[in-house]
Amino acid sequence: MGTIEDRWRHSVTRRDALLSLAGMLASAPLMRAQLDPRPLKDHRRAPGLDEMLTAFDFEPICFANMTLAHYDYMAHGSDSEFTLRRNREAFEWVELVKRPGVSADAVSTATDVLGLRMACPILIAPSTNQRDLHPDGDAAMYQGATAAGIPMIVVGGSSVPISKIAASADGPRWSQVYPVQDLTAAREQIESFQAAGARAIVVTIDQQSSRYERDLHDRNLGGVARARDGVPRSSAPARGPARYRVDPRRLWYSWKYLDDIRPLIKGPMVIKGVTTADAARTCVAHGADGIIVSNHGGRGMDYLPSTLEVLPEIVDAVSGRIPVLVDSGFRRGSDLVKAIALGAPNLKSLSRSMVRVHRR
Ligand SMILES: Cc1cc2nc3c(=O)[nH]c(=O)nc-3n(C[C@H](O)[C@H](O)[C@H](O)COP(=O)(O)O)c2cc1C
Repeated sequence: MGTIEDRWRHSVTRRDALLSLAGMLASAPLMRAQLDPRPLKDHRRAPGLDEMLTAFDFEPICFANMTLAHYDYMAHGSDSEFTLRRNREAFEWVELVKRPGVSADAVSTATDVLGLRMACPILIAPSTNQRDLHPDGDAAMYQGATAAGIPMIVVGGSSVPISKIAASADGPRWSQVYPVQDLTAAREQIESFQAAGARAIVVTIDQQSSRYERDLHDRNLGGVARARDGVPRSSAPARGPARYRVDPRRLWYSWKYLDDIRPLIKGPMVIKGVTTADAARTCVAHGADGIIVSNHGGRGMDYLPSTLEVLPEIVDAVSGRIPVLVDSGFRRGSDLVKAIALGAPNLKSLSRSMVRVHRR
């Protein structure tokens, strides 16, 4: 290549220089708009436990750190997930009514439920498969609950034996059971939980069927069913009622069962899975000492209303005869305030006049 051509290739003409400058000026704001306002180092890390403000904060961390099948098992609802969504939606319909000039000196979150003195009105709901999420499973949960001063309801089919859970901490503890048709087996289960220190027995009466479309999709997409303790479950197609996620062990339920097991339960019998005023009255008639208004977090029957919507009519039906507890969709402190105001008219510090409900 000649000297002249070489100089042309490397020298910058005024026209080129102006073009480059104009390009740079034009692109600068666009570039800036592309910048992450919170650079990676600030927000792409797992926050410490003390930085978690509400239960919502755990969800993206779990999503990012668990297999999809395990995450979905924890987070899903049945069928279309209408009830799962509705459980949250209903909190948006309840507004707080501000009452200026009222002294907050006497406000206390402490309460008593069936002989349990609690610093705040929270219990840990029963949930299965905790060892999928932590090697110590339910035992670790119980230690955490005891450290926080919160009673725990240990799930009947716990992933850690009840003796190991009981030995791991000393906080107040209830045990949950599903109805077992063989009364001898039911007695053995209830007695073993009571011998291990359960102060009350929670009988879950919903969850006769549950069709989890997310699970089915995960299986179809990944070809592998959710593993338990690292061992994949069978991906073989289910047969009979199980094909529709109807649990054949739970098709016979009847109210008489509560009469049958009432004498076996030494402390309070709490019925979980109540969603109507009628069912609440029936529970009282069959010897329940407490009920838990619950739709299983939208994991049982789909198209049920949210528990917050049905809570007031159930509380009215029970009319103070037994305590009414509630779960499904609770994720932040104000959710508790709303439910207590709607559900506990006789609690001194909160009453129905403190909330206004606008269904949207
Ligand atoms: C992973 C998982 C497993 C559960 N297993 C049980 C169970 O075995 N027995 C039971 O009575 N409830 C079970 N539940 C329901 C909870 O006790 C509770 O009713 C529900 O989670 C409340 O709704 P929320 O998840 O929106 O807070 C389970 C819930 C989850 C998320």
